[in-house]
Amino acid sequence: MSKTLPKDFLMGGATAAYQVEGATKEDGKGQVLWDDFLKKEGRFAPDPAADFYHRYDEDLALSEKYGVQVIRVSIAWSRIFPDGTGAVEPRGVAYYHKLFASCKQHGIEPFVTLHHFDTPERLHVAGDWLSQEMVDAFVAYAKFCFQEFTEVKYWITINEPTSMAVQQYTNGTFPPAESGRFDKTFQAEHNQMIAHARVVNAYKSMDLGGKIGIVHALQTVYPYSNSEGDRHAAALQDALENRLYLDGTLAGKYAPETLALVKEILDKNNQKMFKSTPEELDVIDKAAHQLDFVGVNNYFSKWLREYNGKSETVHNGTGAKGTSVARLHGVGEEKRPDNIETTDWDWSIYPRGMHDMLMRIHNDYPLVPEIYVTENGIGLKEELPGNVNKNTVLADPKRIDYLKKYLGAIADAIAEGANVKGYFIWSLQDQFSWTNGYSKRYGLFFVDFPTQKRYVKQSAIWFKKVSDTHVIPD
Ligand code: BG6
Repeated sequence: MSKTLPKDFLMGGATAAYQVEGATKEDGKGQVLWDDFLKKEGRFAPDPAADFYHRYDEDLALSEKYGVQVIRVSIAWSRIFPDGTGAVEPRGVAYYHKLFASCKQHGIEPFVTLHHFDTPERLHVAGDWLSQEMVDAFVAYAKFCFQEFTEVKYWITINEPTSMAVQQYTNGTFPPAESGRFDKTFQAEHNQMIAHARVVNAYKSMDLGGKIGIVHALQTVYPYSNSEGDRHAAALQDALENRLYLDGTLAGKYAPETLALVKEILDKNNQKMFKSTPEELDVIDKAAHQLDFVGVNNYFSKWLREYNGKSETVHNGTGAKGTSVARLHGVGEEKRPDNIETTDWDWSIYPRGMHDMLMRIHNDYPLVPEIYVTENGIGLKEELPGNVNKNTVLADPKRIDYLKKYLGAIADAIAEGANVKGYFIWSLQDQFSWTNGYSKRYGLFFVDFPTQKRYVKQSAIWFKKVSDTHVIPD
């Protein structure tokens, strides 16, 4: 029997400023941590991305046509404050007013993220999330946005704070590309937690009538086998990537077992515990009691086994299946059971992991009123066939199959009591991926990068059906 979603369940598409806008040097935009880094690494150019800076109205019109009711966009901090702090750039402010007006015109509600991996360069150099200056500047920028963009009714403080910290300081795939620095990873996680909490508390005290939440990358971690060592490795990995954040932002306090796991990772790596003060912990606690929703980004799950060797990570950024390696000293080694299907980028396809994460939040973190799935989707290698015209619809059966399974898992969690209010596919249109460039496509709408022409994929037609009927076709 077909599974169904609640009648008020919202169907949306997700984007992030740096991944879609392009125009990185236009209208006074300031530099961010990626501009020089991408050039130096020779990864890919961030311009023109999906040229959303100029084509937002076209994408929103397509979205309206294909049943997209809500959209995730982020504000590029460096368009508002080119230097991170100080003088405001009015052209940046005007751009976002135009974008939100266009959303309104197309009947699409924006969920607006304040920080999606794009720290202004000056603050990045000053220590990024490891510095107090960054935390203070973020709070000031957020308050400015709340006062200015009163048309926004859904705010997201930070996108995936854990990915930012882990990729900056544990895996080295995000600038400043350091590896094995668990001490910096946890300090950056804690500092983002404070920044998030201060912003939530400020928003609530302003009484603007909207809602505010945070978006986490939450990949469920399972033990590879039932051995004690593998179960413990899974618990350590979970503390590193999920649990510290879930505790801090959704319960308002770090559970003693969570802190013990964190300390164990640090001890095994001869590194120091992160610093926190009682005042900071009060701020975090207050915010958790006022948070309106949590966003769950879930794509894949992980399986961990015991590992005592040196840290070694290889990122599969090319789509050559089977090339990724993840072994962390003091944590464990990722090792998937053979029967688990993966994408070309070695991401497991495991809808059960989505269900289990939603149920974990429902059962273990009852303070948080609402859950949204704020990112989920599949990255594929897709090409334009010859002889296309503007009415060509591109076949993407793998995406439809993936969406069907994951939305089914969400429907199951809702039936078991989880208060999931909506779903945002990653991504609305094709855009670049930070560590994989332009060849990993996720969109409902295909973007031909040289011409920037848009083509509809079959998944967009499927998506509209679900959005209109709330039935997930078999
Ligand atoms: C999330 C991010 O981590 O996953 C997005 O919020 C990102 O910005 C997405 O693009 C997909 O990851 P990737 O590495 O395939 O681009």
